[in-house]
Order: sequence, then structure tokens, then C-alpha cells
Amino acid sequence: MRRLFSKIALIFILLSMLAHTASAKANKNRFEFAGVNLDVDHIAIFVGKNGTFSTAVADRNTKTGGRLETALESADYKGKFGNKLRLFGLSPYKSIIVVGTGSDDLSVRKLRDLGGYVAQASNNDYGISVIAEGLNTAVEQSAAQLAMGYALSSYKFDKYKTKKAGTASNVRTVSFLSNGFAASKVLYDNDLSHMVTGVSFARDMGTEPGKSIYPESFTQHVRKLFKGVANVKIEVMGVSQMQRHNMGALLGVGQGSIHDPRLVIVSYMGGAKDAAPIALAGKGITFDTGGISIKPNSGQWQMKSDLSGAAAVAGTLYATAMRGDKVNLVGVMAMAENMPARDAIRPGDVLTTMSGKTIEVMSTDAEGRLVLSDALTYVQKQYDPRLLINIATLTGSAARAMGADYGVVITRDWDVAEDMMRIGKLAGEDVWPLPLNKTHFKAIRSDIADIKSTAGNPGASIGAAVVGTFVDKDRVWVHLDIAGVDWLTKATPTTPKGHAGWGVRFLDTVVREYRQQD
Ligand code: BES
Ligand code: ZN
Ligand code: MN
Repeated sequence: MRRLFSKIALIFILLSMLAHTASAKANKNRFEFAGVNLDVDHIAIFVGKNGTFSTAVADRNTKTGGRLETALESADYKGKFGNKLRLFGLSPYKSIIVVGTGSDDLSVRKLRDLGGYVAQASNNDYGISVIAEGLNTAVEQSAAQLAMGYALSSYKFDKYKTKKAGTASNVRTVSFLSNGFAASKVLYDNDLSHMVTGVSFARDMGTEPGKSIYPESFTQHVRKLFKGVANVKIEVMGVSQMQRHNMGALLGVGQGSIHDPRLVIVSYMGGAKDAAPIALAGKGITFDTGGISIKPNSGQWQMKSDLSGAAAVAGTLYATAMRGDKVNLVGVMAMAENMPARDAIRPGDVLTTMSGKTIEVMSTDAEGRLVLSDALTYVQKQYDPRLLINIATLTGSAARAMGADYGVVITRDWDVAEDMMRIGKLAGEDVWPLPLNKTHFKAIRSDIADIKSTAGNPGASIGAAVVGTFVDKDRVWVHLDIAGVDWLTKATPTTPKGHAGWGVRFLDTVVREYRQQD
């Protein structure tokens, strides 16, 4: 009887392992966390400023008969942060990847970058053992942070390639070797891996062509992502429900497309029943042609990722819910396709929003602020959040001001802006403030409606003023304009070029910093 039981248990363990490999396969990696082991073929090591070795690395050097040290000296290797080398022929190792750490104490962000550098240097072409012992850091479970960086860096979107990178036969095993490996495995499996999945989801949604991602299909992807996740409720509002709520702005933006708009609401109630939630609202334009105010040809294709805000909201909710945070978090995603059509809204039209306020549409290409207005009214009325953050690829103006280095943050309260800058630094997704004051609100006064949707420069602040018109004055509110950061033309350590999935790490860190332990 007992044997039968253990057999059943074994089958369950095998099945769950299968499930685990399957999910990790999306990143074409299988991660292992293990103890220190000198007998492996391909290793990655970290070397400090001026080529200094930790004891763990010195042990490897001894294994090579000191030839590792000689090779680094010959290469005049200085161990500068992020400097990569790949050495062959230093037996008994088949290859050694060397990544410099510089001299600073390694933060979480730097550890993730280091993991990303290892992924870049390995060309992803064989299994390696990463020596995660002896790093100059106060961060606990640093091996898990390296693994997260590696996973984020090796993201690939090869769905439409006939030759795929991650077939069953070439899934790579990456082993992170350290003394505290058990705790690192727990942190990675129960927490960081969910952030990776959240970021990958956001990247998938932003990369997937507009042909296949439209409001309803996005909704299906969200449902699939959250299938079986505890304490999560998904509500999807269609056109008739929007009509009942008088969401004239969201309906207006969506009315030119054959794909109807959706308002997707995902709520995760992991905190006390009566605790006010944190709310995240995302712009989800599945393709932005500009509408009747049609965009010029150049770069139009990239407007398939104009749902970056919504995608980041979904990814953050996923990560938070999967790790079981004690927090109440609600995400609203305002999904629509902005198309020119005979029944599309026109420049000059006036829309009545759910709040009752009217907006004169000066350009149908300023659609993000319109869909957000209804999403924000809804989430405040329904949930009365203690912190409200909206995230959107809202203005080219933000992109011109910050490039791909900083997301724009706009708040009514300087302390909140500073806190967001601090959080961005921690998260590895930086933000920098732009102003919002009376002049911006004055500028959007309309001759025929309550406000108008555009008013020239400064574009990012004007956009924030339109959005801010729909946020209660005394609410803690953060406006994120991510038009510059959502797409990378050059890889960073943890983000390949293409759609960055920007915002999951930032918002996730906000949630960690603002959750109340109740
Ligand atoms: N989705 C765009 C903003 C954008 C631009 C995102 C470039 C990513 C890269 C947005 O809907 C838009 O078209 N904004 C207009 C607003 C203008 C009409 C006031 C813009 O910035 O030009
Ligand atoms: Zn847009
Ligand atoms: Mn637009």
C-alpha cells in the first residue's frame, strides 16, 4: 500500500516537473539552483575591478592551473562592470564566460544586469554553470536575481519564424551554483519567475501584430494568463455595458474599428477585505492608426504596441497574484483599436465621458487620454483606490524628452514624484518627472465643450492635464507616459531590442513598496 502511495507521489512529482519545464520552455531555458561544483564544462564567472577574484573564482583558476588568470592578464581585462569575455580552451573547462562586476556593492538591479550579460555572452547556445558564489553584495539570494536577469535577457519572440529557437532538443539548462541555493530556488520559483512571466506576457502583447491582437483577443490572452490563479477576478465590459455607463470616450475611440472595444478589469484581493486597493489603469490601443487624423507612413507599424500600458498592468497583476502578496490590487485595461472609417469619430466631435464631462476631440490621434478618462472614472467610482497609477504610451512628446532612458512621471505632489524616482531606480526602470500645473489645465479649456483633447506644447504635460481632469483632486495619483521606453532599438542588459515590456518591473516594485502588511 505504501509503495503504491509513493508511486502515485512520484508520478505527481514527475508531472509537476514536466509542468515546470513546460513553463520555463517559453524562455528556452531551464534553470537549476545547485551547490558549488567544480566539475562542469561551461562556466560563467564574475571578476571584480582590476581582475580581482573571489574565493569561488580563485578555485576555478586553480583548476585551470592558473591559466585563467594569465589569459585575463594577456587580455588586459580590467573587470569593469558589464565587460564580457568568452574564453575557450582553458581545460578542464570547455568555455569560460567572464563578466566584470566593477568595485561597487551589487544592488538587485546590478545583479539582474549581470545575469543578463551572461545570457548575452553565452549566445544562448549551450548549457552553462554560473558561479553565483562570492559576489560583492548584501542582497540575499543573489543567484535568484542573476537568474531573473538571464531570463529577461534571453526573451525571444519567434512565433512567426519557421525555424524556432526553443525546440525540445535545445532547451538550455542554466545552473546557478551557490551555497545558499535552496533559498534562491524558492525566491526564483515563488516570486521572480512570475515577474519574468509578467514581463514576457507584456512583450508578447506588444510584439504580436495588430492583426491578431485586438480588444477581444487581448481579453482572451488575459483570461488564459490568469487561468487558475487564486484570488483573481476578471470582468470584461463590452459595448452595451459601456453604453449603460455612458463611457462615450472609450466607445468613441473604438467605434471606427470592426473590433469592438473592451474594458478589462482584473482584481486581485490578497489583502484585508475592507482595505482600499491600489489601482492600475492601462492604455490598451491594440493598433493606433491615428484615426481620421491619420498618422504618417513612417514607423506606423510600431503602433501595434500602443497597448503597452494595458499589457504592463496585466503582467504586474499576474506577478503580484502569483506570489500571493498581501495586497488588494485592481487593474483596468481600456482596450480599443483606433481606426479611420466612415463611422469613426472626427476631429471637432464632442464626446461625453462617464464622468459627465465633455471633451472636444481636436485630433483623433490623441486617443489614449480619451480611453483613459472613462477607465479612470470607472475605477475610482468602483474601487476608491488609495493609490491610482495610469500607464500609457501617450505622447511622442514624452519620447522626445526622455528617449528610451526614462519613463515620464507626472504627479500633483512632488514627494510622490520623488518616491517614484526612487522606486524606478530599485526596479531597473527609471522615471523622471515633468510638470503639471494650472497653465496646463488652462490650456485645455475648450470654446464649445468642458475641455479639449490637445493644446500643442508641452505635449506630455498637456496630455497629463487631460487625464488629470478625470482624477479626483485629493487622490494619490501617478501618471506614467511610456511612449519613449516601450520600444528599444538597442538591447540593454535585461531587455532585448524590440518591445520592452516596460512597466511590469516598475509597477511591481511600486506594489511591493506600497503594500500594507495587513
Ligand atoms: N500612441 C501615440 C503616442 C506614441 C508616439 C507612442 C510614438 C509611441 C511612440 C499617441 O496616441 C499619439 O498619437 N499622440 C499624439 C498626440 C497629439 C495628437 C497631441 C502625439 O504624440 O503626436
Ligand atoms: Zn496612441
Ligand atoms: Mn494616437
